[in-house]
Amino acid sequence: MLRIIFGLLWCIVWAVTHCKADINLATMHSIRSNLDRRVSPCTNFWAFACGNWSANYVDNFQLAEKRYADAMIAVLTDNSNMDPPRLFKQLQDYFSSCVGHPQEKQIQLPQKLLSGDAFEWTRATARLRRYGLNGVFFDEMADVAYNDSLRYVVELKRPVARNNHLPLRTGLQLLEKALRDLREKHHNEESLLHLWTLSKLKQEIPQIEWQTYFEELLEMEPRDDKLLVQISDVEYFRKLGELLRESNKTILEFYLRERLASFVKEAKPRSTAHSCIHHMSALLPLGMNHLYDRYVYRTRSEDMRQLQQMFASLRGTFAKYLELNRLELSSEQLTYLHAKLANMQLKLGNLPDTASTDNDFYNNHYASASFTADDFVENFWQALRLRTHLQHLPLRQPGATVQLKYYYVNDDLVRARNAPYFEHERNMLTVPLVFMQWPFYDYRQHSVFRHSLMGFILGHELSHAFEQEGILFDAAGNELVLGLQIRQNVKFQAALKCVQHSPTASLKERLADFNGLQLAYDTFFGLGHDSNRFEYRPYEFEQEMSPPQLFHLNFAQFFCGRLPTAIGHDMDDVRVNEAEHNLHQFSIDFSCPRQHSDSIGCEMWRPASR
Ligand SMILES: *[C@@H]1O[C@H](CO)[C@@H](O)[C@H](O)[C@H]1NC(C)=O
Ligand SMILES: *[C@@H]1O[C@H](CO)[C@@H](O)[C@H](O)[C@H]1NC(C)=O
Ligand SMILES: *[C@@H]1O[C@H](CO)[C@@H](O)[C@H](O)[C@H]1NC(C)=O
Ligand SMILES: [Zn+2]
Repeated sequence: MLRIIFGLLWCIVWAVTHCKADINLATMHSIRSNLDRRVSPCTNFWAFACGNWSANYVDNFQLAEKRYADAMIAVLTDNSNMDPPRLFKQLQDYFSSCVGHPQEKQIQLPQKLLSGDAFEWTRATARLRRYGLNGVFFDEMADVAYNDSLRYVVELKRPVARNNHLPLRTGLQLLEKALRDLREKHHNEESLLHLWTLSKLKQEIPQIEWQTYFEELLEMEPRDDKLLVQISDVEYFRKLGELLRESNKTILEFYLRERLASFVKEAKPRSTAHSCIHHMSALLPLGMNHLYDRYVYRTRSEDMRQLQQMFASLRGTFAKYLELNRLELSSEQLTYLHAKLANMQLKLGNLPDTASTDNDFYNNHYASASFTADDFVENFWQALRLRTHLQHLPLRQPGATVQLKYYYVNDDLVRARNAPYFEHERNMLTVPLVFMQWPFYDYRQHSVFRHSLMGFILGHELSHAFEQEGILFDAAGNELVLGLQIRQNVKFQAALKCVQHSPTASLKERLADFNGLQLAYDTFFGLGHDSNRFEYRPYEFEQEMSPPQLFHLNFAQFFCGRLPTAIGHDMDDVRVNEAEHNLHQFSIDFSCPRQHSDSIGCEMWRPASR
């Protein structure tokens, strides 16, 4: 028996698409093997669900990444296509050069990056920004206006503190300290957001040579009255300009060099094939996603149909919460929320919508790059530069607006996105293609598995639209005062306070976990569910555990892995235990003794359980 079950599991992991095995039995086998039955589900649910998790991977994400990379290596080393599309050839060359680059070989900084003209910090900073280096003295991004989510603007901000401190020479340490002091001094300022033209920026902050900066960054003469700049931390910028003007130029130049070197260290792949794939996915997301979509991903239409269905039912449940109006909002406020919910989009894969069949679009998108199969260093700099170039391209045209048809996320990450994410400005939820694999998703699985994992994930992302930051954006992604009013609602504030009954690394993530799990549970079992009154019939593939128990377990096991791995979230065990502790039905579903059965019951949108 054991052997047969192992056979099934093997079958799923390695040959998902060809296997006739019962995927639900295999999923159950995997769920069981993670359990540590010595722990009571009532005292520490995560430890019960994940205590025997002993895969060779850090967590399931690492497994999904590895499988994604294996598939992409096969595509990128396949030379059977005699006349490959241009984009395909470009990425194959990049990949060959990356794998062939000797690990120990340094990445030389491009010649004349800093030298050339007499050193001037604004010009040098802009030039390095063109190669992706950001946040040295300030943060710069091509973004959209806060009150017009289709209008491109330059966004300028005080940089966030870095946690990897460089071992710096004495002269540089003084500069580093001065910059840190300046950042911290302006840390707590109420930071107003301004939307200015370039000429207004020059007037307001004359301490910085903006003309030079934008000329170098955009590689053209910027238009004083047409280039829009969205800026916060104005006083920080004024003081920064003074500080850098008085600084020793040699020191500034060395400092920029060191920061660039540390950026390169972070962005550079190891010379293994897997590392190269991850590196390329981060730097060249459009090309990599397109190739995966075209040559590897086989179940798009089936998956998308199911995802849309699940998304629609989650939104239906959320709409019912809104109708019950726990926060006692005005009808204008309710209309705002309903519109936001109704306009929310779901996207499968970080790819432009309508361009999927448009080969010219893909082949021309990276047209300015000329990668070669044997010069990785040159390719590396080209890819970094291409990315910044594509981000800033619209800013070169006066009044440019977002072309939704060709929109995809192309930001400054050095690690590819693999978890689903929500974009407030687009009111859009994206599930990356790497996420659409077992153990995260398989369209053939029973709906209890799909709803407890993907349903929770979609519910979590959807909830981001309604937490304390997301609420500020309307259905079209513009910030309106109406959202601010809702945030100030007494019951909204009480819910924020309630979820902080124990400390959390991120309030909005905890809200999204609490609301997302509750929403997924309500959607799957129906708003009228009550395990106290109903008994759930077991599924044919599982006699021991009840449907609600399976739901909780499959949700929790999404978070199995080695602790700690969290960035910007609570640790996985805390996330699972807190979210389940909040769910009123949980202790009933596991027949927990009384002392364990008090749920936190922090509801924000949903009327209370009791
Ligand atoms: C879980 O692991 C413990 C020891 O770590 C072991 O005693 C127990 O048999 C395991 N349970 C299962 C179901 O594998
Ligand atoms: C956005 O706000 C700016 C002022 O911050 C204003 O000048 C502009 O007209 C507004 N745009 C829209 C579309 O409301
Ligand atoms: C600037 O710093 C460099 C290196 O520490 C030093 O050699 C040089 O004399 C300094 N220049 C001025 C004008 O202080
Ligand atoms: Zn989140």
